[in-house]
This record gives sequence, structure tokens and C-alpha cells, in this order.
Amino acid sequence: MKKIQFNDSELLYPIGLGTWQMGENNSNKQNELDTIFHAIDSGIQLIDTAEMYGDGKTELLLKEVVKKKRNKIFLVSKFYPMNASKNKLKNALENSLSRLGTDWLDLYLLHWPSNTRFDEIIESINIFKNSGKIRYFGVSNYSYDELKNIENFIQNKSVVTNQVYYSLKNRGIEFDLLPYTQSKDFVTMAYSPFDQGEIFKNKKLLKLCDEYNFEPAAVVIKFLLNKEYVLPIPKMSNLKNFEKMFMDLEKNLTNDCLEKLSEIFPTPKRKSPLAVI
Ligand SMILES: NC(=O)c1ccc[n+]([C@@H]2O[C@H](COP(=O)([O-])OP(=O)(O)OC[C@H]3O[C@@H](n4cnc5c(N)ncnc54)[C@H](OP(=O)(O)O)[C@@H]3O)[C@@H](O)[C@H]2O)c1
Repeated sequence: MKKIQFNDSELLYPIGLGTWQMGENNSNKQNELDTIFHAIDSGIQLIDTAEMYGDGKTELLLKEVVKKKRNKIFLVSKFYPMNASKNKLKNALENSLSRLGTDWLDLYLLHWPSNTRFDEIIESINIFKNSGKIRYFGVSNYSYDELKNIENFIQNKSVVTNQVYYSLKNRGIEFDLLPYTQSKDFVTMAYSPFDQGEIFKNKKLLKLCDEYNFEPAAVVIKFLLNKEYVLPIPKMSNLKNFEKMFMDLEKNLTNDCLEKLSEIFPTPKRKSPLAVI
């Protein structure tokens, strides 16, 4: 698989693994860990989490992964907007690092826009970077207009990504946000690419996948990988589903199949509010 260029200096496997709702239920813990370890052994580097997930339980689950695989993974966590002020952010980061059992995050994200002044956030972020506690910083759930407002921080690479809801069913960002970020060689992390599992109920999609002999999860991910500077982060805790998807990622989506996908899930014709889950 062709890697994705992340902030000039880094090449990453083009798919990450989401972890929302992992670590919350002990009975599923082994399936979750098996899938994460298998994904890493298959080449996946980016693991996405947040202090919010399971109130810290998801980061705690990942401690077991970090212990064995820290140097193989590109670890991403997010902080609550309410923790963005200078006096709170240091603690939020220390708590995430401690739950994860690591000295550093590869990427730290503002989970959604905050009332704290953006330059105050950047001041804290620069301190964390200088002390080696984080490598990169990004935002999440920023609309086109919100991202334009911080364009100077994109320009000077203080902000290196925006994580937003992007899926076949939800292509709103293709109207304005995506062309803008692509023009800046700026990575969009596509969250909830399976619409939290809803996409697998779409009969037209399933029929098309049958016709092309393609695993539905792989079709969704390949559709997103076909877009420049897009890095999907599906959440999967079922090893068999992961393996089936992974095998089919080697196949190519034909133009004909892409056209049919766009008939089922049309491109946006007008600006719409950013969708958020
Ligand atoms: N920044 C933000 O505000 C934000 C918001 C939402 C999500 N995220 C991030 O994005 C990640 C992904 O989004 P998401 O977790 O909301 O949803 P998602 O990736 O769209 O869908 C996950 C759901 O799909 C199911 N699934 C996966 N593969 C499947 C298959 N082949 N067949 C049937 N079902 C399948 C999973 O079940 P199993 O678990 O049983 O495999 C899970 O229930 C999150 O985990 C999180 O890291 C970020």
C-alpha cells in the first residue's frame, strides 16, 4: 500500500485504527487487543484515541499495546476543549501520557473547537513540543470556515491535520473543506468511515460489493484512500472482519465501480454544515 505523506517529514501507512468504545467492556477486551496487535503486525501505524473515550479507559487499554509496540505505532490522543487553557492542558497531557504508559504522543489533537484563544493553545503546544512530549499538533471537527481562521498556523505547520467525519454516506467536506486542505498538502483524518457500522446495512452498497466481489469495508476504505491526503481511521474489534477487509485492500476499485458508488452516494452540490458525531 502506498504510504501517505504526513507533514512533509513523515510517511505513514494510509489507514489508522480508531479506538472509540474500546476498553469499556471487559468481556470484549481480548478481541480488541487481538485486533489492534494484528493490525499493527499487518502494517498499521496510526492508533487514534482520546482522553474522552471511556473516561480514560480506552487509553488504559492501549497501555498494553504501547508496552509492546511503542516504536511501531504513531500514537494519537485528543484533549477536551474544556482542558485547552494553559493551566489545564499540562495536566490533561500528563494524564493521557500516564494512562498510555508513554513519554510522548506522536500527535495531539484539540477534540473540537474551544473557547480558549487559539494562540494560547499553541503556546502550550510549543512547550510540549520543546520538551519532547508531543511531536505534532492538530485539530478535530473544524469546518472550512474555522480552519480558514487558523490558516497562518497551517501555513507554519503548527497545525498538521484536521480530523473530521467523512464517509461515503457523508461526503459534505468534498464541497469546500477537502479541496482546501488538499491544496495545502494537509492531511484529513476521516473518522467514522463506516458511519459507526450503519453503512453495512445499505442494500445498494452490498449489492454493488457482491457484483465486484469486494468486501464492503474494503470498498469504503478504498473509496477514501482514492482521495488525496485522506487517512481513514476505522474502528474494528473483530479480527475476522479486519482480516477480510485487509485482504481486499490489495484490490483496486475500477473507475466503473467508483462511478456506481457516486450514483448511490452523490457528491455534495452545495455547502453544508460540518457533520459531527
Ligand atoms: N474526532 C472525533 O470527534 C471523532 C468522532 C468519532 C470517531 N472518532 C474516531 O474515529 C474512529 C472510527 O469511528 P467510529 O468508531 O465512530 O465508527 P466506524 O469506524 O465508522 O465504525 C465502527 C463500527 O463498525 C463496525 N464494523 C467495523 N468493520 C465492520 C465490518 N466489516 N462489518 C460489520 N461491522 C463492522 C465496528 O464493529 P466492531 O467493533 O465489532 O468491529 C464498529 O461497531 C473512532 O473509533 C475514533 O477513534 C473521532
